Amino acid sequence: MADVAESFSTGGWEFNADVVDHFPEHVRASVPFYEQIQGLVSEVSDWYLPTGGVFADLGASTGVTAGQILRRHCDRDMTAHLYDEQPLMLERAAKSLESVVGSRQVHYHCQAVQAPLAHHGADMTVSLFTLQFLRLADRITALRLACNAAADTGVLVVAEKIRPSDARWAEVAVDCSHDYKAAHGISDAAIRAKARALRGVLVPHSEDMLRRIIIAAGWQAPEVLFRWHSWVVMGAFARGPNGEDGRPDHGQARTRAEADSAAHPRRRPEQGTDQH
Ligand SMILES: C[S@@+](CC[C@H](N)C(=O)[O-])C[C@H]1O[C@@H](n2cnc3c(N)ncnc32)[C@H](O)[C@@H]1O
Repeated sequence: MADVAESFSTGGWEFNADVVDHFPEHVRASVPFYEQIQGLVSEVSDWYLPTGGVFADLGASTGVTAGQILRRHCDRDMTAHLYDEQPLMLERAAKSLESVVGSRQVHYHCQAVQAPLAHHGADMTVSLFTLQFLRLADRITALRLACNAAADTGVLVVAEKIRPSDARWAEVAVDCSHDYKAAHGISDAAIRAKARALRGVLVPHSEDMLRRIIIAAGWQAPEVLFRWHSWVVMGAFARGPNGEDGRPDHGQARTRAEADSAAHPRRRPEQGTDQH
């Protein structure tokens, strides 16, 4: 059977209905160590997503990350905000999270992550394998909006495909990724088709560039949490170890947030977005 990637033309990749249908198997086979990365990210929530906390996922797709966190902390009250511009992805997310939500709140926001965000005071913000599809300026905008919507103690975790800086390692990385996918059942033809479909759509930059855009967006102290060839997970904080705060608009965001919390009970975002 032809792989979903083979239905796209050069540079024509999009998260359409076909991709949504095959997404869970596809992402596991095509992103090396996807399961382990999800495990790493959900474990961070042990420290940074307290009871009553707010979780935000920029590019949530089918809600795998939120699902792992909600399952891991099944007794912990929390509110989750899942953003994705593909409505079918969020429909799948809502379906798959149904059994784990319980009394917690999950809000689904069908929108671009570089447009104004609906949440505030996020204790934990993640964006896994999504910013790589945005123009560089939009990546910074999305991260800046998320930083302004973070709690003072908020944490960020970003996972991205990156481009190793040295061409020798870049060559090794390409072949190792190819071998990984082949070992997970993707045919050589499908691997080639996906690479062609992603030309100019998924644009990796260096690890150093990722660190720089995280800092440019106001986040502090970026640190590599995981790296395998061209795949990296980076964590950062809304404030630095000595309280440094690089959020020029944060005072304004806080004022809005304070007005909101005065009008509504703490940790209970207002209705108005889809809620399940
Ligand atoms: C590779 S998937 C993300 C995978 C997911 N985070 C996970 O860990 O399973 C990328 C997702 O980002 C969404 N997306 C791409 N560009 C976006 C944008 N500018 N704003 C919002 N969502 C976007 C796509 O619809 C897709 O669901």
